[in-house]
Amino acid sequence: MKETISQVLFSAEQIHKRVEELGAQITQDYKGKEPLIVVVLKGSTIFAADLIRAIGLPIRLDFISTSSYGNSTESSGVVKILKDVEESLEGKDVIIIEDIVDTGLTLTYLVRTLQLRNPASLKVCSLLDKPSRRKPESTVKVDYLGYSIDDHFVVGYGLDYASRHRNLPYVGVLKLEQ
Ligand code: IMP
Repeated sequence: MKETISQVLFSAEQIHKRVEELGAQITQDYKGKEPLIVVVLKGSTIFAADLIRAIGLPIRLDFISTSSYGNSTESSGVVKILKDVEESLEGKDVIIIEDIVDTGLTLTYLVRTLQLRNPASLKVCSLLDKPSRRKPESTVKVDYLGYSIDDHFVVGYGLDYASRHRNLPYVGVLKLEQ
């Protein structure tokens, strides 16, 4: 199967500008606080690395890794935590950083699970959202969003297909050809 990028959706420059805006918004909303940033591995790492440097506040940083059973382009909704956060969430202002919300099932599970640990607040920041793909069981609310997109499979800026393309500096639509 040949993998090509059929369209660049967001250039490195466009993403940089949007990430700066999101960072400024978070800085304003969390003034006087020290949010705990929980990065969902691995797709969010590039976004998170840029975003935390656009936040003008002291922050704490932690990582969580989930896996969804099923094939690689479709979430099954059965999520398990492969690597948990190391920090206690009790009383903290937690912001989950995600790369993309698709069916919403991964984040629904994650938010429910982390909410049980009694954070002072729990919000979600995602670079991308595909609202047309949302499953009715999803209860996800994206508090900070980079871009809403149509139903494309996208790669780059951390997002992968079969572990490839994460290091593209832009977000592009992946086309698979025989
Ligand atoms: P959800 O549970 O269906 O919302 O799936 C979210 C996860 O699926 C994301 O964190 C990504 O890892 C993956 N995913 C969904 N859509 C895409 C895409 O277009 N490109 C790359 N990964 C995607």
